[in-house]
Amino acid sequence: MAAELLDGKAIAQDIRERLRERVEDLARHGAQPGLGVVLVGEDPASTSYVNAKERACDELGIKSVDHRLPESTSEAELLAIVEELNQDETVHGILVQLPLPDHISADRVTMAIDPDKDVDGFHPVNLGRLLRGQECFWPCTPHGVLEILRAGGVTTEGKHAVIVGRSNIVGKPLATMLMQKSETGNATVTVCHTRTPNIAEHTRQADIVIAAAGKPATVTGEMLKPGAVAIDVGVNRVEDATKKKGYRLVGDIDFDSAREVASMITPVPGGVGPLTITMLLANTVLSAERRRERAGR
Ligand code: GUN
Repeated sequence: MAAELLDGKAIAQDIRERLRERVEDLARHGAQPGLGVVLVGEDPASTSYVNAKERACDELGIKSVDHRLPESTSEAELLAIVEELNQDETVHGILVQLPLPDHISADRVTMAIDPDKDVDGFHPVNLGRLLRGQECFWPCTPHGVLEILRAGGVTTEGKHAVIVGRSNIVGKPLATMLMQKSETGNATVTVCHTRTPNIAEHTRQADIVIAAAGKPATVTGEMLKPGAVAIDVGVNRVEDATKKKGYRLVGDIDFDSAREVASMITPVPGGVGPLTITMLLANTVLSAERRRERAGR
């Protein structure tokens, strides 16, 4: 029997409805969440992500403060803009779209963002807090994965979760979140990566497989245990002459073979992707709420 589809768009829509109520509540107290969005250069994928983020802000009543900078922007100029956003009282979250051009250090820019406005959850202070189980901003994509599991009624306690991919943005924080002593954690976690000799040996033992390797067909149906839950974080462009754009998007999981073995699976597009943006909005609203609490209003 084919796996049940976990519909990321519908799950994201539900979460956005609840966020809208929180934005309205803030408005009743005279506050509006604000997100500073910085894009350097004109990479088409980055531009389309940033456009989608700004549209989503508009729809929810979050103010976005937009900085679209030329590819030639220097690191010093970018750092000055980050500092301006750090100081701006109307901005509760700052997003600098990655990747940055080669002449700019993504590490230095990420570390220049005020950790209390780091709604991406990329700053070492937030990652350190995450590791210690302290209050922080959860990185958006791993947070989206947990929300999809929750919406699908998939509990993690006592389950074996196998993550394929060890990036700072997805694999490492997701492993931390899934092993955390918490309602959305308590899993036994294995992390596989490019130097793992036999990835299938691990994924076949998993109750939950999360593919975040950045390569199509990293996980196939024959690498899954029957009834496993398969979550696909990958977004890869593959050439397709039958499409108007000349390409189509596929994930890291071979969808057709995996859906015959898994009990639940996320599609690409329409799986984890819509949740990533939604959790960015959620962190921005949370940041505005925390600011209001600190101000005692
Ligand atoms: N580039 C790809 N994904 C992301 C993301 O979630 N945040 C930022 N800042 N850049 C990205």
